[in-house]
Amino acid sequence: MSARPAAGKALTGAAAQVLGLGTYLPSRTVTNEMVCERIDSSDEWIRTRSGIRLRHWAEPSETVEFMAATAAERAVEHAGIGVDRVDCVIVSTVSHLHQFPSLAAGVADRIGAPAPGAFDISAGCAGFCYGLALASDMVAAGSAGHVLLIAVERLSELTDPEDKATAFLFGDGAGAVVVGPAERPGIGPVAWGSDGSQKETIRQTSAWSALRETPEAPWPSIAMDGREVFRWAAYHLGPVAQQALGRAGVSVDALDAFIPHQANMRITDQLVTELKLSGHTAVARSIETHGNTSAVSVPLAMQDMLAAGTAPPGGLALLLSFGTGLVWAGQVIRLPARPVSAPEPATAPPSTPVDTGTVR
Ligand SMILES: CC(C)(COP(=O)(O)OP(=O)(O)OC[C@H]1O[C@@H](n2cnc3c(N)ncnc32)[C@H](O)[C@@H]1OP(=O)(O)O)[C@@H](O)C(=O)NCCC(=O)NCCS
Repeated sequence: MSARPAAGKALTGAAAQVLGLGTYLPSRTVTNEMVCERIDSSDEWIRTRSGIRLRHWAEPSETVEFMAATAAERAVEHAGIGVDRVDCVIVSTVSHLHQFPSLAAGVADRIGAPAPGAFDISAGCAGFCYGLALASDMVAAGSAGHVLLIAVERLSELTDPEDKATAFLFGDGAGAVVVGPAERPGIGPVAWGSDGSQKETIRQTSAWSALRETPEAPWPSIAMDGREVFRWAAYHLGPVAQQALGRAGVSVDALDAFIPHQANMRITDQLVTELKLSGHTAVARSIETHGNTSAVSVPLAMQDMLAAGTAPPGGLALLLSFGTGLVWAGQVIRLPARPVSAPEPATAPPSTPVDTGTVR
């Protein structure tokens, strides 16, 4: 490994850190060929334009609550704390199909956490980084000792399998971290923002109320102006990354890992060039096997990199995400210090009824 400059290695920010990490990937693997049975496309087009080769789609029994709770239990175990020490549960999701109650309250109960604060947030694909900012500030402020942050998505349920602009893009899964107290800052200040004038670029095709008004109306799904989102990301994300590095007082050369939202391999490639990342900085590329899992993509990629040994436990990582809104968020963190093993195989319960709305 090449020598790294010492300057900019001392992360400034909250006295909070990521203590534990856990993920869940659904049991069903879906190839590009399978997706192309419903759209006029090809494995080659999908791989070259997006970088995606495979994605996982949840079976009916792999509900958002099940996937979130499984990832959460793994994160709590990895953190080495008892679940009774979780003071707050935050869930980031856009695919929990109940308006209320929050998914967080159900997950807290399911994992046996005794009466923690619990709430959901909606920040699309940037939701993990948004939630991490909240969790970090809650711990630093003393509002919570340990915060369990979970990102979970079942976007297969909100994807139109016949829309060639989106059918190949999204995957399902869950990723969770435990944020707890630290002797030195482990989570840098967030760089975040929104631009609601771009709210139509990634949108739900219709409101749920359309189904009440016209029962034969199409099931709402994700619509996206991919080219526009791509252009926006290419122009705006570099400065957000620089802002996150600046706020953390970390130089780009000090990064052990770069973990951008896994939206498109070409966006990642462009950021690597624009940020002039050093050769020793590992770059997340798990879109290849997971697709775009929205808010889950950052913790999933983190797990992949730590388990594969491409990123060192306790190393410095720049997280960077963006999504529907449009919204964006990024921060520098210290990766969990404990060794991380490969994600466990899916454990879908065979006959649990679906608890999150209608499955097509
Ligand atoms: C979706 C994405 C992969 C499409 O790649 P692209 O290179 O931008 O492709 P375009 O949308 O410009 O379309 C190029 C051509 O391919 C066609 N095309 C679109 N989807 C296709 C598909 N699945 N298979 C084959 N052709 C397709 C288009 O119709 C277009 O044809 P035309 O030139 O004859 O009009 C890319 O735009 C992307 O990743 N955007 C960002 C998505 C994103 O970040 N979303 C964030 C969610 S948080």
